[in-house]
Amino acid sequence: MVDKDESARLVAIACDHGGFALKEALKVALPDVRWLDLGTDSAASVDYPDFAQKLAEAIKAGQAGRGILICGSGIGISIAANRHAHIRCALVHDVTGARLCRQHNDANVLALGGRTTGEVVAKECVEAFLSTGFEGGRHQKRIDKLASF
Ligand code: RB5
Repeated sequence: MVDKDESARLVAIACDHGGFALKEALKVALPDVRWLDLGTDSAASVDYPDFAQKLAEAIKAGQAGRGILICGSGIGISIAANRHAHIRCALVHDVTGARLCRQHNDANVLALGGRTTGEVVAKECVEAFLSTGFEGGRHQKRIDKLASF
């Protein structure tokens, strides 16, 4: 049985076929992260909205505190994730974006493109995303506005 604090430390990860190779590479590159792998489990074609939804539901249920989503470009899966009101998903291509989405936007999900971002940069993006805090202050009222839509 995983308790609530333990769940918050888990990082959900999900992808479509375009993100499968990068998902597997990130799990190997970051073995100390407590991953909750929600699939997909092969390079066979699947639909990215299904995996964004799985991850959004896991976060809503408290099964994980943060999430990583990967499709070919990162675009479709980030659009899908942001349809969920409790998700603030940031598609990033560099470490600066990964840091800023935490500091300014309190992003709880990071999206990456498996066909656009290399493994080394993706690993550094995930590390920055998981280790950077929200700055609050002037950014909090903007987050509150997002929640009011
Ligand atoms: C799948 O071919 C591809 O369209 C998908 O992974 C993603 O890039 C969509 O935005």
